[in-house]
Formats: sequence, structure tokens, C-alpha cells
Amino acid sequence: MAWSDFTRLNFPFPEAGLAVDLSRLSLENNTLQDYAPAFERAFAAMRDLEAGAIANPDEGRMVGHYWLRNPGLAPSEEVAADIRSTLNKIKSVAARVHLGEVKGASGPFTDLLVIGIGGSALGPQFVAQALGHPATDKLRVHFFDNTDPDGFALVLDAIGDRLPTTLCLVISKSGGTPETRNGMLAARAAFEKAGLEFARHAIAITGTESALDQVARKEDWLDRFPMWDWVGGRTSELGPVGLLPAALQGLPIQDLLDGGARMDALTRQSELPRNPAALLALAWHHATDGRGARDMVILPYKDRLLLLSRYLQQLVMESLGKEKDLDGKVVHQGIAVYGNKGSTDQHAYVQQLREGVPNFFATFIEVLRDGGEPLEIDPDTTPGDYLSGFLLGTRDALSENGRPSLTLTVTEVGPETVGGLIALFERAVGLYASLVHINAYHQPGVEAGKKAANAVLDLQRAVIAHLRAHPGKPSTAADLAGALGADAERLFKILDHLAANPGRGIRKHPAEPWHQSAFSWQA
Ligand code: PA5
Repeated sequence: MAWSDFTRLNFPFPEAGLAVDLSRLSLENNTLQDYAPAFERAFAAMRDLEAGAIANPDEGRMVGHYWLRNPGLAPSEEVAADIRSTLNKIKSVAARVHLGEVKGASGPFTDLLVIGIGGSALGPQFVAQALGHPATDKLRVHFFDNTDPDGFALVLDAIGDRLPTTLCLVISKSGGTPETRNGMLAARAAFEKAGLEFARHAIAITGTESALDQVARKEDWLDRFPMWDWVGGRTSELGPVGLLPAALQGLPIQDLLDGGARMDALTRQSELPRNPAALLALAWHHATDGRGARDMVILPYKDRLLLLSRYLQQLVMESLGKEKDLDGKVVHQGIAVYGNKGSTDQHAYVQQLREGVPNFFATFIEVLRDGGEPLEIDPDTTPGDYLSGFLLGTRDALSENGRPSLTLTVTEVGPETVGGLIALFERAVGLYASLVHINAYHQPGVEAGKKAANAVLDLQRAVIAHLRAHPGKPSTAADLAGALGADAERLFKILDHLAANPGRGIRKHPAEPWHQSAFSWQA
């Protein structure tokens, strides 16, 4: 690659320990200039959003995650005071837990079980892994982020006999998400089985008066923290959702917030080359033709950033993956995001990136400081030098094959950098949404999925009731579909699952061809 491209299109932001290198995206000399009018509109929309406009029109909500790291920006003194007092409370509850003033059934808490999903889990998981260390963490952190009974059992087994000193954090903005509710019920069952009172081990983070809030209040849980309606799930990492688990783990949450605030200040700049988030949004738009034509592959060369791609996958895809634009026109927007870490992925899918279908752009994340112990393994060469060499080599190999990439360089993986990265991507998503004229802050597809699952479970209850009323009588899925006025395929799948689980009362009578297999109720 030409040095001249690098000097023209690598943008250092030393005040944030960041550089954004767009030199491998085949930008023309005038690309930045061409985008300037679109960004003027995006910056204006962002200013309105920060000032408290209803930036999520479908849900009629303000979008206030930027206020979390700078409460002075909040549109009312009441909101600002709420943010400040909640932050103080987070710090004081964490300190009291660490001092053993708030404790479990048999002493100070040793473990933290975080129960949540999507925006109520991915940020906390990313930060816990990026910044945690077994030697310094005040609590061992575990997650329930699904409704998989085997997953629950694995986590509970890992906690083992420390359950009496485990604190549970149940996180759900809506307070009614089934996976989280089920996780809470599974945790509660484990505590009760061990003769422990769940309420004495539980804290809720949820919307005021949600179902979860009501349970926590009625049962007098240890504490309750708010999830404000003006903070979306996937942009809640720097609010109570992310800060309380991080503080309990013993991470310096003020540094996370300061890193976020510093990045917010930078990404408020209205000159494109001085705004790293705008540069990122421009890169995405240019690389994907503004319609998701290429996938975004996230390649951080650092183990601690392993979960960044999962976190970004949700932030980007749930925000930008929309059927309709703000005028209701069908646009099918979005950018597919996947990734893991380098150099590990060079032994997996990077083969395809280098030589296969050219349907992506890579985002390399370079971390300058190696960390770990100094070790010279070859003359003048450390393992960290290898990691850096692999990054630089893969970047070159992609460029040589005409595959676009951009590189974000950070000095180290510390709390300020992690807070800064979160703020950087949040802003880039918001600006990109303006460029393509969509609402980044709602998630109608997620709601649709929740409704579809409920319909399946209603049908399951109906078919169980039907078979129970006709004990011992085998019926095929097609018979049952006729009797219940339901879809045969759906019934077959439901019954196949029930029959595979002893104790559910459903017996399968295999037949040839397979779809003539019948199911009956066996008490
Ligand atoms: O970002 C989002 O809005 C979603 O991913 C939610 O976080 C997710 O569906 C969980 O919702 P809740 O926090 O209401 O349980």
C-alpha cells in the first residue's frame, strides 16, 4: 500500500489513544468532501438527539445514552440528578458488598451471577472479559444469558458450593423477557434447593413498575436499580446495566465512564476528519454501498477483545437491520457483523477472506501495548511481535487481493479504552443510521420473535392438553393438526422435542415413513 494513502487517510486521535486508518478502503481524494453534506445532516440529527428530541419515533422515546457519561447534557435537572444519584448508589452498593456489609447466607459474596440477555448481557460480558483478572476481581462473574437448562446447570455447577455466597443480578429493561425470567426462576430454584432465600441474594435492574420490578419490590430483594426508558438495551452498557456488574466485579467504572465521555466529546466534532465515529460511519457506508452490500468482519488482535465482535454484532445489526426507513419505505437495511480474534481466525475463516468470495470489509483492531510477561522467543522478537506481525501481514494480504479493510489502533486494553470503544461504536451506529435514514433505536424484529415463541408455547400447551385428554391413543402430527387447527410441521417439532425429554408425558411411536410417527400421552 502507498505510504501517501496512509499519510492522507490515517487519522490519529492522541487524546483518546486511538487512530482510525481508512487508507485501505480505496477512498478517492474527494470522498470525505463528498460525504460532508450528508454528515452535516447526521450531526444536526445527533445534536437534536442529545438535546432530548424524540429520536426513537416508533416508541415515542428520547435516546439518552450520551447523558449517562455527562449528566450535565440531560434535558432536565431531574434526569441529570437521577443519573448522578444512581451512579453514586452503584458505587456505594459495590463498596458495601466488597466490605461484606451486604452479604450472603454464609458470609461475604464471592460470586456474581448476572441474568440477562441481548443488550442486558452482551455489554457486561464484553467488559467483564476485557477488563477482568482472576487475581484482582472482587467477585467471580457468571452469566445466564439464555433459557437453556443445560447452560443453567453448567453455570450452577461452576458456582458449586459457593451458592450461599453468590449474588444474583437480574437485568431486564422490560422486566418480562422470557429467557431472563426463566434464568431467574432457575436460579431461584437452585437457591431454594440449597435452603437459601433467593430474595436475600438478588438485585434487580429494570424499568420502574415492570413485572420484574414488582416481584423484586414485593419480595424485598436486596436492592433495585432503574433502567430508564430513554436508554436502549444495546446502548445501556455505560448505565446501571453495565456499571453495576462491573463495579461488583471490582472494575474501575469511573474510568470506563471517563473514557466514554472523552470519546463522546471527540465524536461531537462536526468536521469529518476530526470525528472518529463519523470516519467509521463513512467507512461503513463507503464499503457497503450504504446498503449492507459487504459484511463487517471484526478482527481484534487481542484475546481480551474476544467478545467485542459479539457485542458489536448486536449493537450494529439490531440497530441498523431494519425493514423500513423513517418514512416507512421498505429499504431492508443493515450490515452483517461477525468476527472473533486474530491471529486465531487466521487458522479458520481468514482463508476465505483472503481468497474466497469478496463480500466483506475487515475491521482490524490493533492494540499497541502487548501486556503479559516480556519473553524473547527469537532474537529481538516476542510473542506480541508475532501477534503484531500477523495483523500487519494479514492486512497486507487482504489489500493485495483487493479486499478492503480499516484499522483502529488503540494504545492498550484498559477501562478508558473500553469505555471509549463503546462510545465510539454507539456514535458510529447513530451517525450511520442518519446516513441511511433509519431508526437505530427500536427493534421490531426482536419483538416479533418474542411473539412467535409465545404462539409456539401456546400450541404446545394445547397439544399436551389434547393428548392428555385421550391417554394412550397415538396420533400423528397430521391428525393433531386437523384436530387442533394448527400447523402439522410445528406440531411435529414440538412433539419430537417433548418425546425426547423423559418425564414430559409424551411417547413417540416411530413409523415408516418417519412423518407417520405418532405421539401419545403416557402418564
Ligand atoms: O437491545 C435491545 O433492546 C434488546 O437486545 C434487549 O436488550 C433484549 O431483548 C433484552 O430485553 P430486556 O432488557 O427487556 O430483557
